[in-house]
Amino acid sequence: MDAFASLQRSIERLVRIKCSNYKEDYIKRRILSRMRLTNTADFEAYHKYLLANPQEIDLLRNALTINVTKFFRDPEVFEVLRREVLPDLATRRKSIRIWCAGCATGEEPYSIAILAHELIALHPDLNVTIYATDIDTVALEKAKAGIYDRKTLENVDEHQLRKHFISRDDGTFEVRPHLKEIIKFRQHDLMSGVPIARYLDAVTCRNVTIYFTERQKNELARLFHGALAADGYYIMGKTEYLGREVEHLFASYNITQKIFRKAA
Ligand SMILES: C[S@@+](CC[C@H](N)C(=O)[O-])C[C@H]1O[C@@H](n2cnc3c(N)ncnc32)[C@H](O)[C@@H]1O
Repeated sequence: MDAFASLQRSIERLVRIKCSNYKEDYIKRRILSRMRLTNTADFEAYHKYLLANPQEIDLLRNALTINVTKFFRDPEVFEVLRREVLPDLATRRKSIRIWCAGCATGEEPYSIAILAHELIALHPDLNVTIYATDIDTVALEKAKAGIYDRKTLENVDEHQLRKHFISRDDGTFEVRPHLKEIIKFRQHDLMSGVPIARYLDAVTCRNVTIYFTERQKNELARLFHGALAADGYYIMGKTEYLGREVEHLFASYNITQKIFRKAA
């Protein structure tokens, strides 16, 4: 067995992630990033390090799951967006601008674009722009290509699938141009302290900050507060929370779904 195959076996046993569920290139990229941070020269050396340092198990698990996403992840949040948040914005604005921060491979911004498209059907003059950003350029390339397998699309219903995707011969689905046109994909580091735009109507930043320190999380909340228009919405991941130091910056809109509004 070669060094990579042997390492994969240990990963499956210790980290409880089935490497074969992921593209080999993706797994290798993530392991290489851990190798750089642990100063290990090759898969064999990293394998030894993993076995000798139990704390590396969690760090590697985080590295491997960091891009994980899917269409309409946590469908209840998207239901609130569809029924309440987007219609509210459409009644008050001719042009809606949303920042999807930490968009990974694009499933989240495309999910929002599907909802926005339904809204535009009701408000033909409405203009929607979604800024979708991530630090990972490889993930962004996949996002721009907009090609997904059926598993990632399991929360997309048949009607939406037919309307918004082109079925390809290899069994994958490609996002149709009318959704791609709404989204501007950009590389952006959330730790840069600079927002992608200002006077935004909503910011979604979900399942991104779990690996950030408290200080960085607070700085990010301040960054989003500064980037939002008055009353703008801030949507966090379901397991994320606002720190004490920054909770006064936002008012709860739907606490269960982690939806907030910019406080005056
Ligand atoms: C688990 S994915 C979340 C995807 C999507 N928001 C969701 O909830 O399904 C986390 C993403 O955050 C990105 N990320 C991590 N640190 C970042 C940073 N400093 N700036 C921008 N993006 C970052 C990662 O590259 C990854 O694509």
